[in-house]
Amino acid sequence: MSWVRENCVSFLELLCIKVVKTGRVPQHIAFIMDGNRRFAKKNSVDSCAGHYKGFDKLSETLKWCLDLGIPEVTVYAFSIENFKRSKEEVDGLMDLARDKFQRLMDELDQINEWGVRIHVAGRLSLLPEDLRVLVSKAMLATRYNYKLRLNIAYAYTGRDEISRAATHIVDGVKNNELSPQDIDDELVSRTLELGEAELLVRTSGEVRLSDFMLWQVSNTVLYFTDVLWPEFTVYNLLAAIIHFQRNAPPPKAVVDISETKQEFLNKMERQRWQQIEKYVSCP
Ligand code: FPP
Ligand code: MG
Repeated sequence: MSWVRENCVSFLELLCIKVVKTGRVPQHIAFIMDGNRRFAKKNSVDSCAGHYKGFDKLSETLKWCLDLGIPEVTVYAFSIENFKRSKEEVDGLMDLARDKFQRLMDELDQINEWGVRIHVAGRLSLLPEDLRVLVSKAMLATRYNYKLRLNIAYAYTGRDEISRAATHIVDGVKNNELSPQDIDDELVSRTLELGEAELLVRTSGEVRLSDFMLWQVSNTVLYFTDVLWPEFTVYNLLAAIIHFQRNAPPPKAVVDISETKQEFLNKMERQRWQQIEKYVSCP
C-alpha cells in the first residue's frame, strides 16, 4: 500500500468529516500507534504482519487528515527503546521501513501530488546505512511540499531530542552565536526537531507518553482510546477531534524572536540539511 490511501472514505464518512470540520481542527496532531502486536496475536499472524497492518492504517489516517485539512501529523514509528526488542522484530521493522521508503521514492509523483512533506525525526546515525540513505532521499525529495507535513519519529525518544537540542545550544554559546541570556523556553522549543502538537492520540488502552514529545506536550490535549492501532477508524479520529474541540486551550500567539536567535536557528537548519545531503552523497 502506498503512503496516502485513496478510496478509503465512504460518503457517510466524508459527511461526518465535513461536520467535524466546521469546528476547530488541530493544526498538529501526534499519534502513538500502539497495539500492532496485540492485533497480530488476536488475528493469529506474526508481529511483523501486525506492523504492516499498522503502516496501512497510517496511510488511511493520512488521507483522513488531508480531508480534515490538518497540516501537520507526527507519528511514533520506532523508539530508541525499540532497539531492545528481539533481533527478528527489529530486523522486520527495519525491512518494513526500507520497503515503504523505497516505495515512496518509486511513487514520488503521487506523494508530490498529495503535497506531503516527509521529515524523519530522531537519531539517524543509529539506523542501518542503507535505510539512513533512503530516509534522507525521501526528506530531500519532498522538502518543498506544503499541504501536509508528516514527521516520522524514528530512532527517537523525547529525552534524546531534548539532549540533542541542549548540545546545539551549548555549541551556539561556545561559538559566540548565542549568549547564555538568549537561552529561554522559546529558543529550546525552536531548537527541537518537532513542534508542539495540539492533540496527541494514543491507541491500545495504554495511558503513558513513553518518552514521546515530552517537551512539546505541555499544553497538548491528550486522547487515549482502547482501540488497537490497526483497527483505528475515521470515527475514532473524529471522536479524538471532538474531544479536542471540547478541551482545547486558546491557540498560542506567535512569539517574536530576536535576530541573534533567528540566525542561530537558520544556521542550525542549514547544517541539518547539509548533513542529510551528506548522508545521500557519501553515506
Ligand atoms: C507499537 O505497537 C508499534 C510500533 C513499535 C511500530 C509502529 C510502526 C508502524 C505502524 C509502521 C510505520 C512505518 C513507517 C515506515 C512510517 P507494539 O509493537 O508496541 O504492539 P503491542 O503494544 O500490542 O505490543
Ligand atoms: Mg506497545
